[in-house]
Amino acid sequence: MRASAPGKLIVLGEHSVVYGHRALAAAVSLRTTVTLRPHEGLTVLGESAIRDDRLDAALALALPSRGYRVDIATDLPIGRGMGSSASLSIALLRLRAALEGIEPDFTWLHAEGFALEQIFHGQPSGIDHAVSASEGALVYRRGKKPRSVSMPPSTVVVLDSGTAGNTAELVAGVAARRPAIDPVLDRLGELVERSLPHLDDARALGEAMDEAHAHLAAIGVSTPKLDELVGLARRNGALGAKLSGAGGGGVVLALCPGGGQDTLRAARARGIHAFRCTIPCGGQDAHATEP
Ligand code: PMV
Repeated sequence: MRASAPGKLIVLGEHSVVYGHRALAAAVSLRTTVTLRPHEGLTVLGESAIRDDRLDAALALALPSRGYRVDIATDLPIGRGMGSSASLSIALLRLRAALEGIEPDFTWLHAEGFALEQIFHGQPSGIDHAVSASEGALVYRRGKKPRSVSMPPSTVVVLDSGTAGNTAELVAGVAARRPAIDPVLDRLGELVERSLPHLDDARALGEAMDEAHAHLAAIGVSTPKLDELVGLARRNGALGAKLSGAGGGGVVLALCPGGGQDTLRAARARGIHAFRCTIPCGGQDAHATEP
């Protein structure tokens, strides 16, 4: 039995979402797939692309304690803010739902996913697994039910900085710079509000992403490497580019509705790990559980 779920990218609104503003995030066309096979005795982890001390606890919470071997494969980079753990959590829950004969709707996945995400992230905002469960684009406000938004699918290029940012430390760093940076956090929030009615306008969204990156740099979560990747993407055909996620490392998201050929070529020529994907991934039947 097999199930899969997508990762995510934050399109606009990281960090300001911590202070009550709305954020826009989208599922990506890169997925984590979990396969269950019958196994005598205790449920065990077989082959896994995700190596993490907390995996056993997550499996114990999500699956029956006996009878299965669990194999995990993923297309997502691990520890780069692209939702690898959230996609794993949602794929595990889809399997549990299949075993229990439950139809896993969004509300069930979001509620059950929270406990799994807490194993990986302590106090997550919940945005990652909400987006993974939705398979689309979401507007997210802390403490509120996430709302799906319609956003035409676009090709994006993801440029990997090669290092992981520490989300908890970056969030704490932003908190320490308040109240001086509050006007910038407000501008990030306003940018999301201004952009939401025009998500079908790729040029406007690209400009909003550029502006968001400048604000994220101003609150201290960008790095010279992230700024370099953003500049490289913009000089090579991207309509806009920004860090995505907590920053301090992780990835840059470049909007490339034309396919991103030039952005990819320029990145790879400099030895930067870059790849293409689609946001939001859509694929309504992509999350069906296969027998
Ligand atoms: O790095 P990620 O993808 O986990 O994103 C963190 C997003 C923040 O806004 C910085 C924190 C949060 O919990 O919303």
